[in-house]
Amino acid sequence: MADNLIEETVVLIKPDGIKRGLVGEIISRFEKVGLKLIACKLVVVPEELAIKHYGYDQAWFENVGRKVLKFYQEHGKDPGEELGTKEPKEIGKLVQQWNVNYLTEGPVLAMIWQGPHAVAIGRKIVGPTYPQSAPPGTIRGDFAVDSPFTSNSEKRSVRNLIHASGTVEEAKLERQLWFKEDEIYSW
Ligand code: PPS
Repeated sequence: MADNLIEETVVLIKPDGIKRGLVGEIISRFEKVGLKLIACKLVVVPEELAIKHYGYDQAWFENVGRKVLKFYQEHGKDPGEELGTKEPKEIGKLVQQWNVNYLTEGPVLAMIWQGPHAVAIGRKIVGPTYPQSAPPGTIRGDFAVDSPFTSNSEKRSVRNLIHASGTVEEAKLERQLWFKEDEIYSW
């Protein structure tokens, strides 16, 4: 297969995934689907790295904020009461700070998986952001039970166990952010 059809996706098992002993279970799902592991390391994440990882631009804040607002709207609740703002960008910034706290609260297992459509396949295996929307058979659907209502009221991220790159461009940025070239293996 042509090299340019082979993608890489960056996958992080977040601190709750490590604490709950789900590392083997999660890795086996990526192995079974046939993706190739080309980098893997346990990282105690410095705050600067977490900020860079979630330090997306204004568009990221806006997107995440809108996602949160949509959730409140669908459930007939007032986001202003709980979050103190209805501004998508402000909500996005809140989520970013919670994400940084979450990623730095214990070690994270950082990996790169390679293969055709690795980004889309990675997201399919992981499932949607909110556990209640994640179908059985996905990692979040099978092992996560948290809700944005509970997490937002507790001013913390949704505990959804795992991160996987959202796009090929995001994967390239995350590859550089998390790994040195000599930590990535070609085999
Ligand atoms: S988007 O809109 O497609 O960019 O959203 P997503 O890819 O899911 O990225 C959002 C990241 O923030 C984490 N997170 C939350 N999002 C929305 N609402 C709440 N309450 C929330 N808490 C945490 C979410 O898990 C995504 O991070 P990653 O690391 O990609 O899972």
